[in-house]
Formats: sequence, structure tokens, C-alpha cells
Amino acid sequence: MARHLITSALPYINGIKHLGNMVGSMLPADVYSRYLRQRGHDVLYICATDEHGTPAELAAKEQGLPVAEFCARAHDAQKAVYDGFALAFDYFGRSSSPENVEITQHFARKLNENGFIEERAIRQVYSPADGRFLPDRYVEGTCPHCGYDKARGDQCENCTRVLDPTDLINPRSAISGSTELEVRETKHLFLLQSKLQHEVEAWVARHEDDWPQLASSIARKWLTEGLHDRAITRDLDWGVPVPADTWPELAAEGKVFYVWFDAPIEYIGATKEWADQDPENRDWKAWWYEADDTVRYTEFMAKDNVPFHTVMFPATELGVREPWKKVDYVKAFNWLTYYGGKFSTSQKRGVFTDQALDILPADYWRYFLIANAPESDDSSFTWEHFTATVNKDLADTLGNFVNRVLSFSKKRFGEEVPAGGEPGEAEARLGEEIARLLAEYEEQMEALQFRKAAAALRALWSAGNSYLEEKAPWLEIKTDKEGAALTLRTAMNLIHLYAVVSEPLIPATSAAMRGAFALPDDTASWVSAEEAKALAAVPAGTPFTVPPVLFAKLTDEDLAAYKERFGGEEG
Ligand code: MF3
Ligand code: ZN
Repeated sequence: MARHLITSALPYINGIKHLGNMVGSMLPADVYSRYLRQRGHDVLYICATDEHGTPAELAAKEQGLPVAEFCARAHDAQKAVYDGFALAFDYFGRSSSPENVEITQHFARKLNENGFIEERAIRQVYSPADGRFLPDRYVEGTCPHCGYDKARGDQCENCTRVLDPTDLINPRSAISGSTELEVRETKHLFLLQSKLQHEVEAWVARHEDDWPQLASSIARKWLTEGLHDRAITRDLDWGVPVPADTWPELAAEGKVFYVWFDAPIEYIGATKEWADQDPENRDWKAWWYEADDTVRYTEFMAKDNVPFHTVMFPATELGVREPWKKVDYVKAFNWLTYYGGKFSTSQKRGVFTDQALDILPADYWRYFLIANAPESDDSSFTWEHFTATVNKDLADTLGNFVNRVLSFSKKRFGEEVPAGGEPGEAEARLGEEIARLLAEYEEQMEALQFRKAAAALRALWSAGNSYLEEKAPWLEIKTDKEGAALTLRTAMNLIHLYAVVSEPLIPATSAAMRGAFALPDDTASWVSAEEAKALAAVPAGTPFTVPPVLFAKLTDEDLAAYKERFGGEEG
């Protein structure tokens, strides 16, 4: 069994995330982790809040809180939402942790020893109107590459190119809008990425064939443009301090590392946090340092994060000249749009994860989002599509099947799985079909093709409905009671199989389905092809209960209310 290290891009600390963030990183990482755990793999799923940088400082200021206090609260608020979504992290850390400070400083010292860091005096954008140096993302202007007029000084959202604030045409302060920007001299640390270009290229070349096209094409584009040396420190109060033992002068000036330098290192930092919290002192280094070939590392992220994960963080890891684990597979996502427009945290457009949970339980969202994950292209969230999907797939195909089978059997045969009848041709055909669809589902999960995996799962649910329609036990019972018992027992076995294999997508519903049967020693975490064919894991005589309706049907009034509350069209 392989050991799987899994990370999802660290959500910025400021603000609760929207559904687009959820589907582009944490949710698929959770589904994949759950799937692999169920298949018996050793999995470590790590995530954390990305706490440094200007946005945190500004959000704290807005709330009148010291930034450390703001981050502590905001971390807990995000964690509560992720618990609500049933994200089963092994650990959800904080990039401001002492562990991350230690490892980030260690990386910087090593990079320095190896000749990959240089102190340079630079001229930096200073805004007299704001009374401060402007961090990159607080300078806005027109992208010199694509002409997008709201490009930020660190990256153009439109063409994903990484920028320098001085590259921007018509720059302005994003805080005050002031265009009277000055340039002043100050010293910073530079990571000499240009010296690592060839090594990174060789490393990417060894991996890109395994990566999905979205990830490798972005990495390629970035490498073709050439790796530039980048300032990795900032003039901010909040961040990982530059270590005084190595750079006394910069440390005295209060310089901290740039958030994109310490954030990916927090994947490692959070793993150490996880180990530090455990009384048995888990071996975090075995996952990251001199990790053997049995560790497979998969990263989940939205496409704007790809350059940092395929090029910049690997460059850092290579330059440290220590055997840190590098990513094996980069799963990147396109955008989930809201009625074709942008979900936007800053403009409060779209559905936020906390609001989503106010409206409906997590499984509704988990299923919908995975079934419509923006994999090969952007995909659009609309309330019409959401309610139709919930009603058709969850309420009708799955929920109604479960309820119909169990209620009818209880009414006619009592509260135990009915005995009688011998599996015949219909059951053999059903078994073959289920085994085939289960194999398809496994294959898509293993290929990290989430939409296709959800489609295979939906097909498994549908196969149950077809069988039930074909056998029609409500008619069968009038002429052949044994036959009806066989049909219902087989259908109940399908319910149990659905409970086991649907768990990665809809864990709470799966638990409810599984809990319907009082099956002793029901510990199976997966279903083999043989078991799927036999459909006999739940024997006659097993007591069962009818669970409450699994998925409520959403009405036209619900749809109207959602659109009213969130806006139905692009704003
Ligand atoms: N906070 C970043 C974002 O939301 C992602 C950071 S990922 C990490 O875009 F690699 F830095 F950790
Ligand atoms: Zn651009």
C-alpha cells in the first residue's frame, strides 16, 4: 500500500471562502483522501490557513483587532465551516505557527549558504498618500502582457503571469487609489531563481508527462518566460521574521518574508504541527524528508496557484539542497463561476461556504460541487442547475430509492431483511452491471477525474432504480411473495453498497444509509468486485430501520428564495 501525502492550497486567512474556493482545492482533496483511506492506503491530508501578508493586516485593522488576535479568530471561524463540510483533514494548521517560522527560517538560511539568496537594494513603490511602502498586490494597474486593467502588482489574474509592481502600466495604490506613487530605496533579500532555472526545468521535464495538461502547460509557459530573481522579503509587521543570526541589519529593520515564500513551506510546517500535538510524537519527517518512493505527494489547487506550486516552490526546495519531498502530481482546477461571472470574496458575489451550510447540509453541496467540478473547463453555478441536480440525482435517484425499498419492505415483511427466493437472471445481470460501474468509479477516482467519478457513482444509483422498475416488487408481491422478498433483499444490498462507496462524496448520508442495517461487524471499508456481483453482504434476517428522508426535494419557492437572496444573474 502506498503512502499518500495530500495537500490543498492554503486558504487565505481573511474572510470565509466561497464555493469556488471549496471546489478548487479542499473538497476534491478531501474526497480523494477519503477514497484512498477507504481503499486501505496510509493517507496524510494536510491543510492550513495562509495567515501572513497585507490582506490579513488590513482585515485586522478594519475590525480593530491586533493582527494575531484577528488571525486566531479567523482561523477558528474557517475551521468551523470546514468541519461543517466534513473535511477530514489529518491536520489543519496555521502558517503563523512557531513550526512554520522555524522551517521557513531554516530554508532561508540554507538557500543563503548555497548561494541562492542575495541582499539587494531596491527601489520600491512608496505611497505618500498612504504613508507606506506598497506591497505588490496593493499596486494595481494595466498588465503589460495582456492589457487587463485590474492587474495586481504580484500577478495578473487574467493571464496568470507573475508580475512586478513596476511592470504595471498606469500604476495606482489599491488602498487609496492614489496615483502619486514614489519609488524609494530599501534593502531586501532576493531568491536567485535564475540560477535554479535549469534544475527546475529538468525537474519539471521529468514530471510534466504525468501531470494533467492544465498544470503542465502553465508550468511550461512560466519556464519559457524564464525564472527571475524575486524579492522574498517585505516591509510589514506581520510575517515570518528574517532571522537575525543571518541578516542582523534586515532583521533590525523588522523585515519579514513574503507570504508566498512561507505559505508553501507551511505544508511542511503544518505536518510538524500535527506531530507536535500528538503525544506519541508522530514521525512528520518520514513524510517529507528523505521520504522513500512509497510516499506519493498530490497537491490540489486552482489554476492561478499553479506557477507557485510547479515552479517557484520546487525551486526553493531544490535550492535548499536537502532531500525535501517534492510534488508528484498537481491537480489543478479551472474556475467555478456564478452565473457565468466571477465569484468574488471582495465584492461579496456568489455563495459563501458558511451561507451554503445555513441553507442545506454539506452533502448536498459536496455532491453538486464534485459532480460539476471545473476540471476541463470553467463551470458555472446557477441555482436552477443546483436545485435540478439535487432533486434528480440526490432526492430521486438515491434518496427515493432508499426510502421506497425500506418502507415497502417494512410494510410487507416487517423490520428484518426478508428471506426467500433464489437470485436469478435479473440479479446476475444487475451484479455484472454494478461490478462494471464500480470499476469505472474506482478508475476515475484513481485518475482524479472527479466529474467522471461522480457520474459513475450516479450510474450506480441509477442501476438500482432500473432493477427496481424491472422487478416491480409492489406488483410481484401479489403473485410471488418469495420473488418480491428476493428483489427487496437485493435492493437493500444495493443500499448497503451505496453506503460504503458513496462515502467519499456524501459521508453523512452514507453513515445514515449504513446505520439503517443492524449488521454485526460491519467494518468493510470497500466493496470488492466479487462482493458487488454477489450483492449478499446484508443477509436475510438482518434488522433494519427506515432512515428519515435523506434529501429534501427543493421546490420552486426554494429556488425563488435562493435567487432572491443571492441574486440570480451576473451583477
Ligand atoms: N493562499 C493562497 C491562495 O488562496 C494559496 C496558498 S497555497 C500555498 O491563492 F502554497 F502557499 F500554501
Ligand atoms: Zn495579463
